Amino acid sequence: NGIRVYDPAFMNTAAISSKITYIDGDKGFLMHRGYPIEQLAEKSNFLETAYLLIYGELPSLQQKKVWEFEVMHHTFLAEDLMKIIGNMRYDSHPMSIFISAFAAMGAFAPDANPSLQGRNLYLNDKLTMNKNIIRIIGKAATVAAASMRVRMNRPFIAPRSDMTYTENMLYMMDAISGAEGYRPDKRLAKALDILFILHADHEMNCSTATMAHVGSSLVDPYSAIAAAAAALYGPLHGGANEAVIRMIERIGTVDKIPQFLEDVKSKKELLFGFGHRVYRNTDPRSKIIREVAETVFDAVGREPLIDVAIALRDAALKDEFFISRKLFPNVDYWSGLIYKAMGFPLDFFPILFAVPRVAGWLAHWKQSLEEGNGKIWRPRQLYVGEPRRDYLLLEERS
Ligand code: CMC
Repeated sequence: NGIRVYDPAFMNTAAISSKITYIDGDKGFLMHRGYPIEQLAEKSNFLETAYLLIYGELPSLQQKKVWEFEVMHHTFLAEDLMKIIGNMRYDSHPMSIFISAFAAMGAFAPDANPSLQGRNLYLNDKLTMNKNIIRIIGKAATVAAASMRVRMNRPFIAPRSDMTYTENMLYMMDAISGAEGYRPDKRLAKALDILFILHADHEMNCSTATMAHVGSSLVDPYSAIAAAAAALYGPLHGGANEAVIRMIERIGTVDKIPQFLEDVKSKKELLFGFGHRVYRNTDPRSKIIREVAETVFDAVGREPLIDVAIALRDAALKDEFFISRKLFPNVDYWSGLIYKAMGFPLDFFPILFAVPRVAGWLAHWKQSLEEGNGKIWRPRQLYVGEPRRDYLLLEERS
């Protein structure tokens, strides 16, 4: 209607209408397709939750079996893609590998490029849409595991379709090449599965908005996933779980907490793992994650940094700076402690967020194509630069 609203960082703009995820930021409530996150974390598993997010309903027994079979049989990476990943430096950040691998994957799936067949490729051809969704979910865990193996300078381990999604991911990271009968600890695979459910979607967060934005140009979904993953990499988003542990390690001991909080208050530091654009009271995922942390500590031993983390949380929650700004621990405050206890290297944490979030990205990509208005995302701006002026020759410039 010609009215423009100035809304930097989209603080107040709803860019889509959605049936996927609902967040009540004041009550600290999260549900997917109507199901509360607490029930999904307790009763579902990651692949089923991914199906729910993408297709809108919980699968029947038959649908669940077919879905799990299909995803777990699309976990292999093309030999040439493995060579690309294998040529990455040993100290590459796993998220850089993930982003690059998905960008490259587009080159291995030419049929995914909609420009070849017109704008309605995915609407007219559900088979192609589903094939790519299944491939992307299946391969995400394998890329993550491969990035770990590159870092360890060890050969890649082929995926196993007779394991659960997270069990297979741990297997591909951990197994000694050719070891017979090796299986990851089931308690850790289950804990990771719950974490994957908690991370699977969170409506219009930075990376999902990126997926929708990039997807609105009708690019292939692999390229859009690479873009979404790049958005997630940043420390204000998915990189926060890594930043939290680096921050707690820097603080080191409980007696250093007051000085650290002073630095946060004078804006020299950020308290990573605190605050959220939508939640202004509590993040329901962080409560569930605290329980998962205890089961992981039971299995592998207590992570020593947890005591500093708890003391830091308690001190912040009593401090007027955080109270008045409604800042409290988000999901990333605790997840890194679990990943650290499980033995993952610090810079591997964001990829453990990215792999399950692929499900949310795809759910939104599909919804946008099927139910969106078909328009390319193109925000407006307020121009505040120079008025029209004439070009200056070099000798005229001061
Ligand atoms: N530490 C210190 N100050 C903070 C923090 C923090 N973690 N978060 C917000 N603030 C301050 C902010 O500087 C502002 O202060 P002032 O009013 O004096 O200018 C005030 O609190 C209000 O912040 P906001 O503008 O409402 O925050 P936002 O919605 O723009 O940003 C956020 C949300 C998550 C990016 C931010 O809270 C932050 O940077 N947190 C640390 C990074 C982090 O933990 N990210 C993970 C988010 S949850 C998982 C995910 O979605 O990725």
